[in-house]
Amino acid sequence: MKILVTGGAGFIGSHTVDLLLQQGHHVRILDTLTPPVHIAGQVPDYVPRDAEFVLGDVRERAAWERALDGVDAVFHFAAYQDYLTDFSKFFHVNTVGTALLYEIVVEKKLPVQKIVVASSQATYGEGKYECPMDGVQYPPLRPVEQLNRREWEPRCPVCGGALNLLITDETRVNPHNQYAMSKYTQEMLALNFGRRYNIPSVALRYSIVQGPRQSFRNAYSGALRIFATRLLSGHAPICYEDGQQLRDFVSVHDVARANVLVMQDPRADYQVFNVGGGRAISVVEFARLVARRMDVNIAPELPGQFRFGDTRHIVSDVAKLRALGWAPRVAFDESIDEYVAWARSQPDVRDYYVDAEREMKAKGTIRET
Ligand SMILES: NC(=O)c1ccc[n+]([C@@H]2O[C@H](COP(=O)([O-])OP(=O)(O)OC[C@H]3O[C@@H](n4cnc5c(N)ncnc54)[C@H](O)[C@@H]3O)[C@@H](O)[C@H]2O)c1
Repeated sequence: MKILVTGGAGFIGSHTVDLLLQQGHHVRILDTLTPPVHIAGQVPDYVPRDAEFVLGDVRERAAWERALDGVDAVFHFAAYQDYLTDFSKFFHVNTVGTALLYEIVVEKKLPVQKIVVASSQATYGEGKYECPMDGVQYPPLRPVEQLNRREWEPRCPVCGGALNLLITDETRVNPHNQYAMSKYTQEMLALNFGRRYNIPSVALRYSIVQGPRQSFRNAYSGALRIFATRLLSGHAPICYEDGQQLRDFVSVHDVARANVLVMQDPRADYQVFNVGGGRAISVVEFARLVARRMDVNIAPELPGQFRFGDTRHIVSDVAKLRALGWAPRVAFDESIDEYVAWARSQPDVRDYYVDAEREMKAKGTIRET
């Protein structure tokens, strides 16, 4: 098949490109090589020469038209991510870019047989909890006054009492921030236009993905890249809140396999799936584990800061994708070791978090209590 991978010069995209080439597909990449992920305009060394490369922006019709020519399937990974406050850019790139993809496929009656879009666990916001009094709850964003009092746990929206965390399945979303909303609207476009125009489409909600090639220059999010690059520079990892937030992390290799599986399996059509690691760990425990794996004796710092709009806990239920025969295979420690070994081998590794933190503080994303 001839397959277009947008964002194919990025982290998840490039690993998916590798897998597709291994399977004998012809691959074309559409990517704008955007900073801070890339050094502007520079194709990373890991992008295989066997893949065709189209330099272009998913906000531009001409770029899509060039990239879609003769294509059988599309993986749409190009996105604007993280926590900055340029709200409209999230929707221009993630939402309007996806609308343009479907607009062109429909308008030109292109014979695209499958579209897979990259969504996120972020669409769940606080995710699923249970109140002993009021049953299953999906609490809203925690009020800033509550966070300023360092009361980190979400409360039951009905009785105000304590909640127990449940793992979150695909049935209900609750997006709180600009990135999550843009990713959810992207999903809605894909699944609804897909159904309406018979273009089999799938949305995958990844948990926190980790592995080699995750650009450390984009240090606004991604616990492993931030913690590992801090530790490599001799600095302590900084954990927000009290560090007890629960997360699940998944290896990029498991994500690439999930991508290719849903492209090939028609049972996935018009559906959304979680792709996660299947194991919960607190952020502070994760920071300690990364230091242990790196054999560095630096404890994490907990300065009591919080990221405004952030989720307290979120752990994805991956049963639905398991039912199609997928399972996370890469062991947790192995996935950390692989990233660290890669980061150590890069000539430009340094603590990029210092600059990202300064910008996020200036824009009110990171706040002090
Ligand atoms: N990494 C994660 O933990 C994670 C988690 C959930 C969802 N996702 C989603 O997975 C996808 C891939 O993420 P990633 O971590 O590989 O990101 P990445 O930043 O490594 O790669 C994204 C690529 O898209 C390109 N790009 C950005 N804007 C573009 C535009 N306007 N036009 C064309 N190309 C553009 C970038 O140059 C980059 O090569 C994204 O859609 C993201 O929202 C990632």
